[in-house]
Amino acid sequence: MSIIPYGHQSVDASDITSVKDVLKSDWLTQGPKVRAFEDALCAYTGARYAVSVSSGTAALHIAALAAGLKHGDEVITSPITFLASANCILYCGARPVFGDIDPETVNIDPSNIRAGITRKTRALLPVHFAGHPCDMKEINAIAGKNGLIVIEDAAHAIGARYKDERVGSCKYSDMAIFSFHPVKTITTGEGGAVLTNSKVLYQKLMMLRNHGTTKDPGSIDKRMGDCAWYYEMHELGFNYRITDIQAALGLSQLKRIDSFIKRRHEIAGVYNKAFDGNEYFDIPIEKDHAYSAYHIYPLRLKDRFSRKRREIFARMRKEGLGVQVHYIPVYLQPYYRKLGYKKGSCVNAESYYQRAISIPIYPGLKAAEVARVIDTVYKIFREAR
Ligand SMILES: Cc1ncc(COP(=O)(O)O)c(C=O)c1O
Repeated sequence: MSIIPYGHQSVDASDITSVKDVLKSDWLTQGPKVRAFEDALCAYTGARYAVSVSSGTAALHIAALAAGLKHGDEVITSPITFLASANCILYCGARPVFGDIDPETVNIDPSNIRAGITRKTRALLPVHFAGHPCDMKEINAIAGKNGLIVIEDAAHAIGARYKDERVGSCKYSDMAIFSFHPVKTITTGEGGAVLTNSKVLYQKLMMLRNHGTTKDPGSIDKRMGDCAWYYEMHELGFNYRITDIQAALGLSQLKRIDSFIKRRHEIAGVYNKAFDGNEYFDIPIEKDHAYSAYHIYPLRLKDRFSRKRREIFARMRKEGLGVQVHYIPVYLQPYYRKLGYKKGSCVNAESYYQRAISIPIYPGLKAAEVARVIDTVYKIFREAR
């Protein structure tokens, strides 16, 4: 029996040709494709600047540093996310504060952002869970009132729209990050990017991805401006560079993003119809303000079935559905518990976690496979009744 994974990359002949061309060129690490990829990300999202890096985690890390986060600061984020959204705050010595989710969208609830603000709060880090955008206008208004920086974790959400804006435009934030890991909407193998409309942040981000160094004649010792070999280190940065090989793949994938998102919507539409009003679980919703990227399709099991989630999940795996749980609330991880975070602090997040099962959704999923997922899901829930 073949296994249908919950997510999978779509790499075609045009992607392979793009990568091959780079391998035959003079540039393997940062070259013309990196710049071209960044220009294409700006053109696609509407943001003024893009800095592509080696992963979504690296993007979060340099965004958090560029925001000036440091020891003693607090940052409000969602507990239902991948570890990196909160870890990047710890990397800077700051403290993540988890705001409970809205059970309907699974995104952080703006009222819990308001409730979490203290004198130490420095930034907000909303996560567009499953590719469904948070209410950014409201979040940005809270930030504006309290003098906070906003970093959008849009790892799931390239291709999504908030009102009339593409996610990543940074119309309602200071920075937004993407991940290009293979299960995401477009891939570079490993990779990520930070988008911003601020030149100051852009310059910091560019330095941080490359050991904190600069050759910018306006920033370095004036007497050395005509020395081609000269550079200066102004920040403690990293090697977070992405390669031309990866950027070529990203560029090629970005050309196909509309078809990827369209197919994800078609599949979600078939699931929505097949599962509408069923007695076993609730399905993802799209708010009026949102056009989701449908990065994942998480079912939320109703009470009676959430108690049997473990057994249902195991049965799905046994039947060849590569289902997954997105996510364990971050603060329940042993590392976070040791830092003093307590079970019971975000009740909606913990309840959601007991209910969640993500079923397969990705552009290469064929109609027959979608039908097999639907039949298998119904069969398993009927047996669990
Ligand atoms: C919400 C979220 N943020 C950040 C990341 C980190 O991205 P990467 O795996 O590219 O480092 C992920 C990856 O799964 C994610 O899901």
